[in-house]
Formats: sequence, C-alpha cells, structure tokens
Amino acid sequence: AVEALFKDKHIMITAGPTREEIDPVRYISNHSSGKMGFAIAAVAQQLGAKVTLIAGPVSLPTPPNVIRKDINSAQDMLNAVHETIATQDIFIACAAVADYKVNKISAQKLKKQSQNITLTLSQNPDILSSVAFLEKPPFTVGFAAETQHVESYARAKLEKKKLNMIAANDVSNSTLGFNSDRNALIVLTSSSTQHLAPNNKSLLAMELMKLVHKEYSRS
Ligand code: PMT
Repeated sequence: AVEALFKDKHIMITAGPTREEIDPVRYISNHSSGKMGFAIAAVAQQLGAKVTLIAGPVSLPTPPNVIRKDINSAQDMLNAVHETIATQDIFIACAAVADYKVNKISAQKLKKQSQNITLTLSQNPDILSSVAFLEKPPFTVGFAAETQHVESYARAKLEKKKLNMIAANDVSNSTLGFNSDRNALIVLTSSSTQHLAPNNKSLLAMELMKLVHKEYSRS
C-alpha cells in the first residue's frame, strides 16, 4: 500500500496543451499529450490528495477519483484554475500553455488568398504566475520545457515566477518529454537541484510527488 502523504490536501494540476483558435476549423497548439500531468494527478490521488485536474484537449481517461475539468484555450484554463484555486494547498502547472493567441479569431473559415498571409498574435495570460503572485498562494510547482540550457533557464523561471519548485525537462530529445511515455526531470528549489533519471511517466510522477511532499512539509 502507498502512504497517504497528502491525506486531506487539495492538489490542482494542469495538463495537456491549449488550443488557440484561428477560425471555426483551425487552431494553434503543441505536441503535449497530457500524459505527464495525468500521471501526476493519478499519483497524487493514490497518495491521499483530493485532486482537481484542469485538462486541455487530450485523449486520455480520467484517473480514478479525480475531478476533471476540460478546457480549450489558455484563457479558459486561467478561468477554470481560478474558480477553485483559493481552496488548493498545492498547484502543479504541467500544461503546455500556448504563450500567444490569435488577435482576432475569424468568425468564418478563412479563404485561401495570396501566397503569404500574416496572423497577428498577442500574449496569453501566464497562468502559473497568476497563481504564484496571489496574496495567499498555494505551494506552487512549475514545469519548464527547454531545448537548451535546461537547468539555468529553469532556475530563472523559478525565480521570476516566484515558485516553490520547478521541474525542468529537455524537450529536444524526442524519446522523452512531449507525447512520449517516458521523461526525465531536473527538480529545482531555491536551494537544491535533484536529477530524476529517465523513467516512465508514472514512476517519475511518484518520485516527483515525494520531492514535492518533502519540500511542502518544510514550507
Ligand atoms: O503532455 P506530455 O506529452 O506528457 O508532455 C509533458 C510536457 C513536456 C508538456 C511537460 O513535462 C512540461 O514540460 N510542461 C510544461 C510545458 C511548458 O509550457 O513549459 P514552459 O517552459 O513554456 O512554461 C513554464 C511554466 O509556465 C509551465 O509550468 C507552464 O505550465 C506555465 N505556463 C506557461 C505559459 C502560460 N501562458 N501559462 C502558464 O501557466
């Protein structure tokens, strides 16, 4: 049996990609499958937590006894997160949120026109920062998807976004990270660095949640 490390704790997890609509039939998105975030949700629930999973469009079953809310865009994810963030003890942002949205979503399907067309994009809200900068933030864990300088870029995000912890992954390796069953993480706090070796996402999620518990207990 697994220990109930997070008994009676409320943990919210974001997972999967977001979709930013261009017109009624097209969107901008990324390769996130939701597997990493769903594995974390399943493990957190097994460890006794009451889990809320805010999921982008993915084709994965809901882990047992997890409350799931499905969203499409980054703005929808932001709204869903803030509906119940005040009651959460821990927030884990594993979603691959689109940094930009299309400025003007076309009401009609865009017709093929000239050789080149230009889409104007504007920045989406940063969901993770919006939680970390709350007056009474939960214990906040971010992810960092990097293709180079993984540890230093992640440490910069930890500091800039005022996070308790960040889990960085190298997404330049196609056998790990996005849309794969395996991943490897570098987990950072302001005073520590821990390497979690390549593993399947369920086992990795268990190792990560043990580190989260250790750090959360000290906070
Ligand atoms: O879904 P899988 O196929 O299993 O793949 C897992 C994963 C590679 C997507 C996952 O492990 C991962 O790295 N998730 C974070 C992806 C990401 O968008 O990283 P980032 O470095 O761009 O963003 C940094 C952090 O800010 C992340 O916690 C992200 O959720 C958050 N963010 C980013 C932008 C934004 N507008 N709002 C946010 O909350």
